[in-house]
Amino acid sequence: MTGRPPITSLPTEPFVYDYPGAHDAVTYELENRIADPDARIEAFMDRLLAMDGLVVADVGAGGGYHAVRYAQRAAHVFAVEPAARMLIQLHRRIAAEPETVGARVSVLAAGAEAIPLPDGSVDLLHSRLAYFFGPESSRVRSCEPGIAEALRVVRPGGQIVIVDNDLREGDFAAFLREFGYAADEPGLADRLDDFWAAHGFTGTTVMSEWRAPSRKALARVLAMEFGERSAEAILARVDGSRFRYAYRLYHRER
Ligand SMILES: C[S@@+](CC[C@H](N)C(=O)[O-])C[C@H]1O[C@@H](n2cnc3c(N)ncnc32)[C@H](O)[C@@H]1O
Repeated sequence: MTGRPPITSLPTEPFVYDYPGAHDAVTYELENRIADPDARIEAFMDRLLAMDGLVVADVGAGGGYHAVRYAQRAAHVFAVEPAARMLIQLHRRIAAEPETVGARVSVLAAGAEAIPLPDGSVDLLHSRLAYFFGPESSRVRSCEPGIAEALRVVRPGGQIVIVDNDLREGDFAAFLREFGYAADEPGLADRLDDFWAAHGFTGTTVMSEWRAPSRKALARVLAMEFGERSAEAILARVDGSRFRYAYRLYHRER
């Protein structure tokens, strides 16, 4: 071919952030069990819009831990996920409960940038620690295409809730500032708040915790997230098997 290709032939493959949990389903499941064990995030979303009987989209649904949980209350949940290994975990979880919640979850093998749902078809769009990591940074590309897509699929009056890590409050924020992605990006917390505010989102900190059944379990999950060496250093700062974990929720009405 000579010259520039027409714009319609540009690749539509999503940009996929390869999360380690896709390669280690057991540790990833453990992490979801110890993270936010009292479901404070869900309680916060309920105050914005109770999901009972609603159509929910979980974007970057991973192994479906939250999508299946939400399907206990929602009318239907669309679990949007692009990574092949995650899709296997997701299908396996749904297949385990075919008669009940599984029947109310549809898997959409897609990225946040192109969600195969009609305009205004979703009441509540939730995305937890997936894809929506703010402006272009060392972590990922800008998530602006996904924001436009979220605004398209959610109906007027519906809610969008993006769950990110809080980089200011709690023990986990301190770990991220010393050992994680926030270490290389001073001022990131403010830049993220500014980015989301510019797109009409309000930032709210939800204080929660990680509560593991044992230090061994906690060490395993920390090693997946931070690598073995940093996990050891973090564990030395933790008494027992729990610590304070703050989430930063960016939310807006459509
Ligand atoms: C840290 S995991 C979180 C998964 C899930 N939300 C949870 O809380 O268990 C990040 C997820 O984002 C997915 N992801 C990566 N790139 C994505 C994209 N372009 N659009 C939507 N999701 C994406 C990954 O495959 C992975 O499942």
